Parts: sequence; C-alpha cells; structure tokens
Amino acid sequence: MIGKLNHVAIVVPDVDKAAMIYKDQLGADVSEKADNPEHGVTMVFVNLPNTKIELMEPFGEGSPIAKFLDNNPGGGMHHVCYEVDNIIESRDKLIGHGARVLGDGEPKIGAHGKPILFLHPKDFCGTLIELEQV
Ligand code: CO
Repeated sequence: MIGKLNHVAIVVPDVDKAAMIYKDQLGADVSEKADNPEHGVTMVFVNLPNTKIELMEPFGEGSPIAKFLDNNPGGGMHHVCYEVDNIIESRDKLIGHGARVLGDGEPKIGAHGKPILFLHPKDFCGTLIELEQV
C-alpha cells in the first residue's frame, strides 16, 4: 500500500538555527522559511536527493506541535510521511485492520496541497505516520 517516503518531519525550537545546521554543517539544499498559519507551524524544507526533511517550529497560539516541544525541548522527530495512491482506500483498509486514524478520520489538505491523514502512533510501532495521496 505505502509507496515512497515523502518526508520526515522534525520539530525544533528554533527553525532558523535548524536550517543553518542543515545548510552549513550538513551541506543540504534548504528552502526559505515559510509560515503556515492554518497548520500552526513555520517550516523549512530540506531537499534531499531521495526525500525531504521538514523542520517545523510552532507558529502562533495553540500550535498543534507546541505540546511536542514542551515534552521534547531540544526538538525531535515528529512523524514520517508515506505516499499512497488512494488515501480513502488506504484508510478503509487500515481501519479494517483495527488501526486508528486521528481527528475525524477525513483527509485534510496538507502543507503540499494534497490530501493527508495521520495514523495513531500506538498502532504503528510508536511512530506518528502521515499518509499523503500523490
Ligand atoms: Co508532514
């Protein structure tokens, strides 16, 4: 069902500092910083030859990643995103296996303008999984 690894998302306390680490020390291709008020994050994309890393800092009040940063003040890996061909079909198959979909279970439009869903980490080896229809 799952295809390519679309991205790995890392929550950081300071996205400018994180972008510099990836650019200057790791020598990666790093995008400009972009605020995404709808998702409550400020993001920088690290473009690797085979995937992307998304560095995310909380944006505004009530950011969904604020609590993660409270628990992990130095930052940490937040989720992995796998590509699927048909997000509804994938969701229904997973629910059939007893997996839990976060939120109301309906796909939302993600940061890349494509339908996404999140799966409960307790059902997937302790890792928050994002599915993105490509
Ligand atoms: Co993501």
